[in-house]
Amino acid sequence: MSTLLIENSCQLQGTVNISCAKNAILPIIAASLLTEDKCILEDVSALEDVKVMIEVVNSLGAEVKLNKDDVLEVSAKKILSQDADYDLIRKMRASFLIMGPMLARVGKVKISLPGGCAIGSRPIDLHLKGFAAMGANITLGHGYIEAHADKLKGESIYLDFPSVGATENIIMAACLAEGVTIIENAAEEPEIVDLANFLSKMGAKIKGAGTDTIKIEGVRSLKGTTHVAIPDRIEAGTFMMAAAATRGDVLVEGVVPEHVKPITAKLKEMGVEVFEYEKSIRVKATERLKSVDIKTMPYPGFPTDMQSPIMSAMCVAKGTSVITETVFENRFMHISELKLMGAKINVDGRSAIIEGTERLSGAKVKATDLRAGAALIISALCAEGRTEISEIYHIDRGYINIEEKMRKLGANITRVE
Ligand code: EPZ
Repeated sequence: MSTLLIENSCQLQGTVNISCAKNAILPIIAASLLTEDKCILEDVSALEDVKVMIEVVNSLGAEVKLNKDDVLEVSAKKILSQDADYDLIRKMRASFLIMGPMLARVGKVKISLPGGCAIGSRPIDLHLKGFAAMGANITLGHGYIEAHADKLKGESIYLDFPSVGATENIIMAACLAEGVTIIENAAEEPEIVDLANFLSKMGAKIKGAGTDTIKIEGVRSLKGTTHVAIPDRIEAGTFMMAAAATRGDVLVEGVVPEHVKPITAKLKEMGVEVFEYEKSIRVKATERLKSVDIKTMPYPGFPTDMQSPIMSAMCVAKGTSVITETVFENRFMHISELKLMGAKINVDGRSAIIEGTERLSGAKVKATDLRAGAALIISALCAEGRTEISEIYHIDRGYINIEEKMRKLGANITRVE
C-alpha cells in the first residue's frame, strides 16, 4: 500500500494546472452508451474512478480505449450485455449512472445496488422514482435492481432533493424517451450543464440545464460527438485552499472562476486576496487566516466536496469556525485524523466547531474518503514535522498526480510505494 510523506510546512508558490472534472467525465462516459456511434472525449486524466467507469462500459460490450495522450474513445455499437458487473458497480457509486442510458438504449438493465460509502448511505430512491415515472418496471432483490421498459415515456418528475446523480441519470434516460420530460428541483451543478452540452452535441433536445427546472424532449436517436469536459472545480478549490492555508501565492490555471465562486467568497472572508482572470485565479495569503462559518449546500452554495479541505484551513485559522454539513449525513470521518495532528474540533450533530491553532503537528493519519485525503495533505503542509498519509488510493480516485502538482509549488511531498 503506498503512502504520502509530507515534511514540514511551506508556503506554496507558483502555478498549477487544473485537469478536467472527474464528476463531468464520469456521466459523459455513461452517456456515450446512448449512441452506436463513436464518442471522443479529450484531456481525460487516467483517474482511478475513470478507469472503473471504462471497465463498466466495456463489460456491457462497448469498445473503449484511453490512449496515451489522454484521448478517450467509446464506441457502444453493440450492447452485448444488460448485466452490469456486480463488483464494478459496488466499487464506485457513479457507475450507477449507466442505468438511465441502458434503459433508454436497450430497455433493460440488471445492476447491483451501489454500495454506501464512508460519507453516507447514498440511497438511489430519486433515480428509481424518475425511471418508474417514465414507465420502467423496477424489481429489487438479492442486492440487484432489475429494470426494463419497452419505451420510456416523458414525464414530469419532482426531485425531493436536488440530487446530482439522479438529475444526470434522468436526463440521460429522457433523451430517447417518447415525449417531453420535465425535472423539477433539479441539481444545478456545472457538471450537469457540461453533460447537457455533450448530449446536445449528440442531438438531444435539452433546455434549462444549470437551473432547477430542466426540460428534455425525447428524440429517436443520438449521434457520436467530440468533447472536452469542464475543468475540475473541486481540484481547483483544493489548490486554492492549500495556497491560503500555507499563506502562499499560487496561480490556479485552467479554471472557470464562476464555478468556484463560493470558494472565492469564503477565502475573501478569511482575509485572503483572490484575483480572478478569464481562465485562472490567483490566491495570495500573507496573514494568518480569519475564522469563518460554512454551511455546505447544493450548487451554487458552498460545495460539500470542499468541506474537508476548508476544515483543514480552519484548523490553523485565528478564532473559532463552524461547519455545517447539510448534504451528506456522515462526512466528518476526517475529523478524527485531523485531531491526531493537534486540531481542536468538536462535533455537534451535523456541525463541527473548529478552534484554530497556530500550528498542527505531523502524525500518521489515513485518508477516509477522496476529499478527506486531499484535506490531510493541506493540514500536513501546515504542520511541524513529518506526516504520513496512508490509504491514499482514495485520493487517486479523483486527483491526478497530486503530489507532483504540490511539489511543483514547493511542497516537500513524496509517494512511498
Ligand atoms: C455527486 O454525487 C458527486 N459525485 C459527489 O462527489 C458530490 O459530493 C455530490 O454529487 C454532491 O455534490 C459524482 O458526481 C460522481 P447526490 P451523488 O445524489 O450524485 C441524497 C466526490 O468527492 N440522495 O447529489 O451521489 C444523498 O444521500 C464525490 O467527487 C437521496 O436521498 O450525490 C445525499 O445526501 C463525493 N436519494 C444527497 O442526496 C437519491 O436517490 C446528495 O447526493 C440520491 C441522492
